[in-house]
Amino acid sequence: MQFILIKNLFEDFKPYLEKEISIGGFIRTYRSSKSVSFMELNDGTFFKPIQVVLNETTLGKENEALFLTGAAVKITGKIVPTPGMKQPFELAASSAELLAACPPDYPLQKKRHTLEYLRTIAHLRARTNTYYAAFKIRSVLSFAIHKFFNDRGFTYIHTPIITTSDCEGAGEMFRVTTLPPGETDPAKDFFGKDARLTVSGQLNGEAFCFPFRNIYTFGPTFRAENSNTPRHAAEFWMVEPEMAFCDLNMNMELAEDMIKSIIADTITNAMPELEFFNEFIEPGLLDKLNALLNKDFARITYTQAIEQLKKAKSDFAYPADWGCDLQTEHEKYLTEEVYKGPVFVTDYPKKIKSFYMRQNGDGKTVAAMDLLLPGVGEIIGGSQREEREEKLLARMKELGLNEKSYDWYVDTRRYGGVYHSGFGLGLERILMVITGLKNIRDVIPFPRTAGSASY
Ligand code: 4AD
Ligand code: MG
Repeated sequence: MQFILIKNLFEDFKPYLEKEISIGGFIRTYRSSKSVSFMELNDGTFFKPIQVVLNETTLGKENEALFLTGAAVKITGKIVPTPGMKQPFELAASSAELLAACPPDYPLQKKRHTLEYLRTIAHLRARTNTYYAAFKIRSVLSFAIHKFFNDRGFTYIHTPIITTSDCEGAGEMFRVTTLPPGETDPAKDFFGKDARLTVSGQLNGEAFCFPFRNIYTFGPTFRAENSNTPRHAAEFWMVEPEMAFCDLNMNMELAEDMIKSIIADTITNAMPELEFFNEFIEPGLLDKLNALLNKDFARITYTQAIEQLKKAKSDFAYPADWGCDLQTEHEKYLTEEVYKGPVFVTDYPKKIKSFYMRQNGDGKTVAAMDLLLPGVGEIIGGSQREEREEKLLARMKELGLNEKSYDWYVDTRRYGGVYHSGFGLGLERILMVITGLKNIRDVIPFPRTAGSASY
């Protein structure tokens, strides 16, 4: 017999009334009393469990000891409407069958655990409400991202994960090698040269914006950043659109539209999960998200940001001087105190940004844009790209980049390299905004961070 899905029952249970149905699921809670017992059952298809009512005859007391949290069961019975109760219906069981037992040492027998403890059992934690909701929203959001770009005619490009070009030039790449220990000659390595895991698909994405005009990549990226913070992971996912005939302002418009559109889609498609986070993780979350949809994102230059920070009454651990990178405390102040919402900061000093950003006429700044949000800080980094071959080459020389390995990249400028722009959105960073979870380790199924990579 086919199992009926709990999701379908919550959508509309009426077609199932008066019929015998079966559900396959896992026990979340089981409370037994003399004559009647209650079971909450999840089958993975819906955030909320279904309530099952059993009596002694359906269950058989000899089986009861096996009906523990985590066990897989098949329940057969009839749907009964329960007007006025928390749930609109319940399942009155006529029989219950154990499909897979779950012994009492199951770590999730206890109802409440800290997120820190649950991180140590990543293979089991998705069975809790918090993580089920987080990973369901991760899926809904990923689909919303594809939909956003597909609706606008963007072409989805799979850029390589193993790369021989360093996009960000920050020396944060993991090496990919099959050389035995002690052997260091790259010529003897698998690819005959030094290869790394990509930190960004951008450079390859740029090559494809000319033939396709508007493209995006969406995939895993890797950074050997030795920063143990709640918002840095060594493996994370990035969405990177790249648009030909697009300047910095159009780039920001697209970024703002995208953020609003993917949040709106998530609100439409993951309401039970968002309500859970709103109640248990970040009170006011739904109001915050709805407010984002209706707010114009502020736009200021880096120079204006520094002026604001210098005027601030707050005592910063790092003073904000022109030329320094914005620290978390600075981002917090700008988004939470001054603008009380999202802020694009543009035109950063070229010294603190990557080689490919378009140089401004002042000789000091580049056409960069970062989007900062209250709570997490930077969620997007992007720029208009340096399309002028001689300027690009001069900057690469200044920074001591190996020109030969960027030959192909310079080619894209030489052959019809029109002005173009793009950005990268950290999927986990926006997930932290949407779920209210404060640690990046809680929005990645199996997180990898400095000093930690299990599974
Ligand atoms: O600002 P980033 O370094 O920009 C780039 O990599 C550009 N090549 C993107 C582009 O223009 N196509 O990274 C982009 C975003 C950041 O704003 C942040 O959201 C996320 O990627 N990010 C990280 N997320 C988690 N852990 C890390 N270690 C991250 N590093 C960057
Ligand atoms: Mg950045």
